[in-house]
Amino acid sequence: MEIKKVGIVGAGQMGNGIAHVFALAGYDVVVNDISQEALDKAVATITRNLDRQVSREKITAEKRDTALARITTTLQLEDLGQTDLVIEAATEREDVKNAIFERLLPHLKPETILTSNTSSISITRLASRTDRPEKFMGFHFMNPVPVMQLVELIRGIATDEATYHTLLKVVENLGKTAASAEDFPAFIVNRILMPMINEAVYTLYEGVGSVKSIDESMKLGANHPMGPLELADFIGLDTCLAIMNVLHDGLADTKYRPCPLLTKYVEAGWLGRKTQRGFYDYR
Ligand code: CAA
Repeated sequence: MEIKKVGIVGAGQMGNGIAHVFALAGYDVVVNDISQEALDKAVATITRNLDRQVSREKITAEKRDTALARITTTLQLEDLGQTDLVIEAATEREDVKNAIFERLLPHLKPETILTSNTSSISITRLASRTDRPEKFMGFHFMNPVPVMQLVELIRGIATDEATYHTLLKVVENLGKTAASAEDFPAFIVNRILMPMINEAVYTLYEGVGSVKSIDESMKLGANHPMGPLELADFIGLDTCLAIMNVLHDGLADTKYRPCPLLTKYVEAGWLGRKTQRGFYDYR
């Protein structure tokens, strides 16, 4: 199946990055969110990130303008009805994702591929609540989407080969690299990355090091581009906690127990960069 028009549900940091890379690769993109403010903010972010690519001579000004012209926004899920591929990039909550699919499905063409950018939730379970488990897949982009090379492709138990191969081709068209992961909690990247971040929070909690010394140790001692606490702030502490809970519940092993300090920060509303406060203060 040829994919030409792509619908994205959720205009947050993942949704706007996904819209950016699809539009640059020549796809028509419709972005949906529940607030006009979120849509306007997404277009402003995409414009700023495309401008940055122009100023660094990664793309021409003409390419930026063509990409922006390919993006439309809407508050109505029905407007995704004529798309060939839908990527759900809403909040990392299963009830929210299920509710979106329930409202969206009556409007979709039968052949439309439905995907979720979930970073941890079971694809098989999400798919089972839809009318097309064979055309449902996990399509997991990394943040910041325009920069990160990897896309995880996760097949649910019922996903058919044609859907998988169509998405492999899409990833190739985006100029990115696909890694296939089996459908187990948090797949590959977050199965490995989140316990490391959680361990960094334990290291802070137990007083082994300060925020600065933990991050500097991993940047200068292990050549990570960001320290784990800085990265947690970048991803969002609520997302980190949600993924640790999925690992803990799904694999029933205490080694995935979320650090109480991570829970406390989330309860305080200190979610990282997006709330101006996390392990660092951005105010
Ligand atoms: N859009 C477009 N370009 C962007 C961008 C964006 N949003 N953000 C950064 N860039 C570009 C910059 O323009 C710059 O380009 P050049 O190389 O051409 O100069 C390049 O990326 C590097 O950016 P900066 O110079 O501003 O800053 P940096 O060198 O500190 O890099 C970073 C920033 C790319 C974010 C780097 O710190 C990094 O790789 N951090 C780790 C990110 C990471 O681990 N992401 C995965 C998170 S896990 C995940 O996403 C999965 C999940 O489910 C939670």
